[in-house]
Amino acid sequence: MSFDFDKIVDRENTGSVKHKTIKKDGIYSQTDLADAKYGEDRVLQLWVADMDFPVAQPILDALHSKVDETIFGYYTPEQSFFDSVVDWCGRRYNWEIDKDWIKLSPGVVPALYIMMPQYTKPGDKVIVQRPIYPPFEGSVKAAGCEVTSNDLVYNKETNRYEMDFDDLEAKASDPDCTAAILCSPHNPVGRVWTREELTRFAEICMRNNVLIISDEIHCDLIYDGHKFIAMASLSEEIADKTITCMASSKTFNLAALKCSQIIISNEELRQKFTDAIANLGLYGINGFGPIATEAAYNHGEEWLDAVLKYVQENYLFVKDYFAEHLPQVNIVQPEGTYLLWVDFSGLGLAQTDLVDKLLGDAKVHFNDGVSFGEATGEGFMRINIASPRPLLKKALDRIIRVLA
Ligand SMILES: Cc1ncc(COP(=O)(O)O)c(C=O)c1O
Repeated sequence: MSFDFDKIVDRENTGSVKHKTIKKDGIYSQTDLADAKYGEDRVLQLWVADMDFPVAQPILDALHSKVDETIFGYYTPEQSFFDSVVDWCGRRYNWEIDKDWIKLSPGVVPALYIMMPQYTKPGDKVIVQRPIYPPFEGSVKAAGCEVTSNDLVYNKETNRYEMDFDDLEAKASDPDCTAAILCSPHNPVGRVWTREELTRFAEICMRNNVLIISDEIHCDLIYDGHKFIAMASLSEEIADKTITCMASSKTFNLAALKCSQIIISNEELRQKFTDAIANLGLYGINGFGPIATEAAYNHGEEWLDAVLKYVQENYLFVKDYFAEHLPQVNIVQPEGTYLLWVDFSGLGLAQTDLVDKLLGDAKVHFNDGVSFGEATGEGFMRINIASPRPLLKKALDRIIRVLA
């Protein structure tokens, strides 16, 4: 089957967050940019992590059948949904899970906020690895805990980030440190952690009695030559101290359906999460989420393979483009995700000037690197390349005009 990912779908006025909000507090608003919104100068949105591609046909078919049922009463997923998750984990990650370990949440971020107070107490320290997806820190702070960052370290030779295990050991051995949130694969630096790295991370956490919360939402978006390994698949002992967050939402572009799987083999930890969900009155789930997830996991692989191929070609396209027109800019080597972590510091611009030029002058919207951690994000932008190539080219042409 062939897929036309080059086709540009107009997402304006569809409620798309990516195409609505200009997130530059106090500097730009949608109104400021309204004049420039249409025609040539319309802002090109390459920020929020969803794809500008229509979802796979089997998912659309499943959703259409659900709509055709015509009645949308209270919903609980059928066993076939749980079977599809179990099969997916077994088939793709060689991770044997039990249906009973799967809990549902209206998103991974809500799950982080819900679970954090269950597994920590106010004043505890929780490890994250900056530069990092901002809601990790939000969930820690909302629970009254303190963020302690085991900053990732850039390796110029390999053009990728690595973990600083000595620093991790030092932070984890603080008696106040009770949990660590791992981003695997990592947003924004695009690392797909190796078995050795995951094992070392887990050993340090276990030795220091630090709970591992492993956000694996990007786990299916893996570049050729790399292999995703689920943290909890490493050993039963590690699984016993790990909470895994997964979803079909990034993989199959279903974020609006608000459905994610929280997989917990440890009964006590699982019960705490179940109780927390119940105590919020979050009974039931939006019925469209599991329906779409089941169709995706059972029938979506061909589409996923095609998307992954297209995204990797997009990466090469962007890389070559910068190399030719703006060689001072360096793209950190991605191993997974459809997000590029791009170093603009070679241009010698202050961060606010860089954002002004990109968003204000070029009318291209990337995520500001500092939102992933001030010190670790200075000079960087995160570019979402899950977009039609003609649109990416247009964005690059614009920024070259402004920055070259
Ligand atoms: C690492 C990570 N976790 C979670 C999310 C969002 O999850 P959800 O939409 O299920 O709340 C994202 C979205 O970009 C992400 O990158």
